[in-house]
Amino acid sequence: MKRKHSFVLVPLLGLSMALTACGGDDSSGSDDSGTGSDSGSSEAVGKVGVILPDTESSVRWESADRPALEAAFKEAGVEYDIQNAEGDAERMTQIADTMIGNGVTVLAIVNLDSESGAAIQEKAQSQGVATIDYDRLTLGGSAEYYVSFDNTVVGELQGQGLADCLGDKDANIVYLNGSPTDNNATLFAEGAHSVLDGMSNYKVVGEQAVPDWDNEEAATIFQQLYTAADGKVDGVLAANDGLGGAAISILEGAGQAGKVPVTGQDATVEGLQNVLAGTQCMTVYKSATKEAGALADVAIALANGDEADVTGTTVDSSDDSEVPSILLEPQAITKDNVGDVIDDGGQKAADVCTGKFADLCTEAGIS
Ligand code: BGC
Repeated sequence: MKRKHSFVLVPLLGLSMALTACGGDDSSGSDDSGTGSDSGSSEAVGKVGVILPDTESSVRWESADRPALEAAFKEAGVEYDIQNAEGDAERMTQIADTMIGNGVTVLAIVNLDSESGAAIQEKAQSQGVATIDYDRLTLGGSAEYYVSFDNTVVGELQGQGLADCLGDKDANIVYLNGSPTDNNATLFAEGAHSVLDGMSNYKVVGEQAVPDWDNEEAATIFQQLYTAADGKVDGVLAANDGLGGAAISILEGAGQAGKVPVTGQDATVEGLQNVLAGTQCMTVYKSATKEAGALADVAIALANGDEADVTGTTVDSSDDSEVPSILLEPQAITKDNVGDVIDDGGQKAADVCTGKFADLCTEAGIS
């Protein structure tokens, strides 16, 4: 079943120029240099609002996504407004209302939970504003498009990465999953299980979802699971670098850091440093430049009333509807290829190779 789209966006030619004059907010911006330069016939129009979820569940949103989104919209000559809901769904709703009031023609959200996300999208739709799910699918939502990575593959890479670090031995595994309100977290866990469950030498001795991906709560949860397993934990499937870091902090206290492989995701500075130090077995790199670029392409197509190029559709498990999607390919990162992230511009060597990590970077051929 295809999602029904009940409205057609009319391109508002010249709006970009008009809105440019009202700039001044440092979280919004525009750059007309690219306007109309590509196609000649259809100018990039409208204004795109993006609402990021928080600053706590991962550093990626402010340190990677925001700058990548700004760069993508500037390059496209599109006016934009990027805000962060600070982990508060009500705040996200208010930001959306304000953005709609300020004339955004396309609204992209990273939902904090599907229910609040769907309500935001419904309201936007009723006001003629097209919506996009950025990174997280809003179950039961009405987004025209979904832009993300293949999140099941992310989980598979984590599962395979952990298996590669553990090898053939018998091993007890603990899963530290992402937020139960995040559809991605479900997909990550499914992907990891699809790889690891078939390996009979591994046993799951604990598994818990971490509400809101809260890193501090993750440490408490991991400590409990670790104690309940009598410390007999040989590997940790942690869904992102923040949760991995929480597990590593507990393992450090138990003198086990570096002995028990831990996975992660986001290729954050801390995650890459842990990979270089050997306390984390792998992370998953998802280029913010690519994801933001894909979002900008889709937003521009919507603003122009065009169809966006997609890689396929994603099924919304809540109602079996199909959402046209761009799903990018994630990359597994181990000690051997940390340099790939740096070479791709995902992190700067100057940020990763600080203090005691300088020598590890040199050893890994990163400069
Ligand atoms: C994203 C991850 C991120 C996590 C916590 C997920 O939806 O895909 O990259 O680490 O949320 O913010």
